[in-house]
Amino acid sequence: MSDSASILGAALNHDSAIKHTTGEALYIDDIPEPRGTLHLVPGYANAVCGQLRSVDLSAVESATNVVAVLRADDVPGTLDISPTHAGDDPLLAKDRIRYFGEPVFAVVARGYQDARRASRLAKIDIDSQDPILTVENALNAQSFVSESRQIQRNDWQGAIEQAPHRLRGTTVSGSQDHFYLEGQVSLAIPQEDGGVHIYASTQHPSEIQHVAAQVLGLPDHTVTVEVRRMGGGFGGKESQAAQWAVLAALAASKTGQPVKCRLDRDLDMIMTGKRHDFHSDWEVGYDQDGRIAGVDIHMASRCGCSHDLSDPVNDRAMFHADNAYFYPAVRIRSDRCQTNTVSNTAFRGFGGPQGMLIAEQIIQAIAHERRLDPLDVRRLNFYEHNDRNLTPYHMQVEAFVLDELVEQLESTSRYRERRKSIKAFNSTNPYLRRGLALTPVKFGISFTNTPLNQAGALLHVYKDGSVLLNHGGTEMGQGLLIKVAQVVAAELQIDIDQVQISSTHTGKVPNTSATAASSGTDLNGMAAQNAARTIRRRLTAFAATHYDVAENEIEFHHGQVRIADSSMTFSELVLEAYLHRVQLSATGFYRTPKIWWDAETARGRPFYYFAYGAAVSEVVVDLLTGENRVVAVDILHDVGRSLNPAVDAGQIEGGFIQGMGWLTTEEVWWDGDGRLMTHAPSTYKIPACSDRPAHFRLDMYTGSENIEATVYRSKAVGEPPLMLALSVHQAIADALSSTSDHGELPQLRAPATPEAVLDAIQSLRTL
Ligand code: MTE
Ligand code: MOS
Repeated sequence: MSDSASILGAALNHDSAIKHTTGEALYIDDIPEPRGTLHLVPGYANAVCGQLRSVDLSAVESATNVVAVLRADDVPGTLDISPTHAGDDPLLAKDRIRYFGEPVFAVVARGYQDARRASRLAKIDIDSQDPILTVENALNAQSFVSESRQIQRNDWQGAIEQAPHRLRGTTVSGSQDHFYLEGQVSLAIPQEDGGVHIYASTQHPSEIQHVAAQVLGLPDHTVTVEVRRMGGGFGGKESQAAQWAVLAALAASKTGQPVKCRLDRDLDMIMTGKRHDFHSDWEVGYDQDGRIAGVDIHMASRCGCSHDLSDPVNDRAMFHADNAYFYPAVRIRSDRCQTNTVSNTAFRGFGGPQGMLIAEQIIQAIAHERRLDPLDVRRLNFYEHNDRNLTPYHMQVEAFVLDELVEQLESTSRYRERRKSIKAFNSTNPYLRRGLALTPVKFGISFTNTPLNQAGALLHVYKDGSVLLNHGGTEMGQGLLIKVAQVVAAELQIDIDQVQISSTHTGKVPNTSATAASSGTDLNGMAAQNAARTIRRRLTAFAATHYDVAENEIEFHHGQVRIADSSMTFSELVLEAYLHRVQLSATGFYRTPKIWWDAETARGRPFYYFAYGAAVSEVVVDLLTGENRVVAVDILHDVGRSLNPAVDAGQIEGGFIQGMGWLTTEEVWWDGDGRLMTHAPSTYKIPACSDRPAHFRLDMYTGSENIEATVYRSKAVGEPPLMLALSVHQAIADALSSTSDHGELPQLRAPATPEAVLDAIQSLRTL
């Protein structure tokens, strides 16, 4: 037996690590198909937007092995699957097409290839309209999914006008495809009495349960959803796994047979939403040292054809337009543009990265104008432990650790020495330029929609002392299940192998929130701890009565229970308790304290706490081709008191690399008519193993535990590290500005593809 006292904070393997690598981990497409399983493939029109004139599916219907073809009119309940705005997202297009790739029908056939072939035989005619595709088009046409929002504090206008120096700039960041290795997939199996059981690759089983029931016109309790694991979600399966699961459920209910819907990579990329791309203009006033006096930011994002999660994503972008910096006076406006493109959705960071890029570009612009090292300007503008601690949304920043954290990283990464050697390198290299940047991360933890910050757990202890753990969180590779199991093992003081992890199941824990906003462990860990404490309390009370000792003479330790002077194993006590009819199953519940948000006044405490980190990136750029590489990265990241340093390290490295992809190579590109051209790995480039920087050093910041009472004082780690990669983009801009001896800063958009780099060089030449 391993030492259960040290289970917390132990660098245990991900529970499925071996299975992931041997291929034994079951994904939905690996579940043996029940007899008679049919395959569903959605079909779309070769059109971008306009009213549907005619939909001729006769060739589809008569194709080989086709069993059924579904259209909007086949929905017995409500056609809508929107996560936030009733009526916003039809399951299948009914009257009009809003974007290229919008599903109009679904073919159900005996074989997957049969369905695929048949899906291409439709004849669909539409009255084409001119699409609105870009943020710029949408702003001109005043096309928005929802009202613009604004947050502000103090007289931003006066502060900017009276400041000794002023600058204006524009920040442009691109979209990003989730590129989870396992695409969208669901298997629906009809049950008695019209019900359906759905295996889905989703971050949000409860929402799929609810939406499927709504589409079928049934109460929620007739639908169950089960998730063992996802092969990646990254936000792309928060709301947008629903359409495929519900189509499978509808087809299962129509045909009475099991139905699987698995999108191939092209359909997945065409039919599902991505990260919101942003176009933001800003103005800043500051003094001779680079200290900010006032900021005015106008951000606009491409939301696509419907709301989906665009409001909370854009809210989070606004909440992070300060990153780690105190703005004495500020206005932040946000326009949520409606376009004829697929509806954009959650993506790791959830708007935060887009907001923080603005803050970092403001700082970098000030530093260049003042001819200061950007790190000094960053420091000067950090939040402080005095009255310079109020965010634009009027929340106080407590326990700000970036002063110490950045100081430590500056020294371990040898930032100043490397700055000098890079300068020397650049002065002798006409075509290869190096760049360096250190950027901080301050990321707010909690769902900004307060009711979502709740979780439930269900814990069974069997007669032999083995424990079955269930909670509302889903596993997408991030290591949530092992972390929560560690919490339970520690509470009961048993070996981790005695705790069996089980699939997330809406029939076990109801009304769960999506596993998102990095809060999976914070919420479900606390709920599971709560359930484990109930069990432990019951066992303690039983032992006290049964053996006639005081409760404080009972101690759980290393798989043993000490009862006054004698001792028995946990399993022996459990059996004894069972024989005396003690309940050995418990639910647990948790809701995050302290948080609130008033959307009317744009004030509140939307976050329970902040996660922090910083990274130093060094890049080399070829000025002739625009190609660039990240050669060295040093990270110092704050996870509070880590529950599992191995899992946390994986999150930090993976998050950084995914952020690097967003900012360098991953370019989502539509043609002028609105057809997605980057819909396969042949045209969309995510980082490969060879892109991992040769020097990649990662340390956990040990200077802090969470001041808030999170589970064992740990901090959320899922999303924040993605934003460490902002240092890569800044380092590339730094390398480019060396061409003007750092007199000018290029207009570098994200992603910094070779084309973007060459455009930026061009912008320097024409300055
Ligand atoms: N890590 C892996 N391996 N796969 C994923 O899909 N999703 C990220 C992050 N880390 C993801 C991941 C996103 S977008 C979020 S919100 C969190 O994990 C969700 O899990 P958590 O709340 O348990 O951290
Ligand atoms: Mo993560 S974008 O909150 O699913």
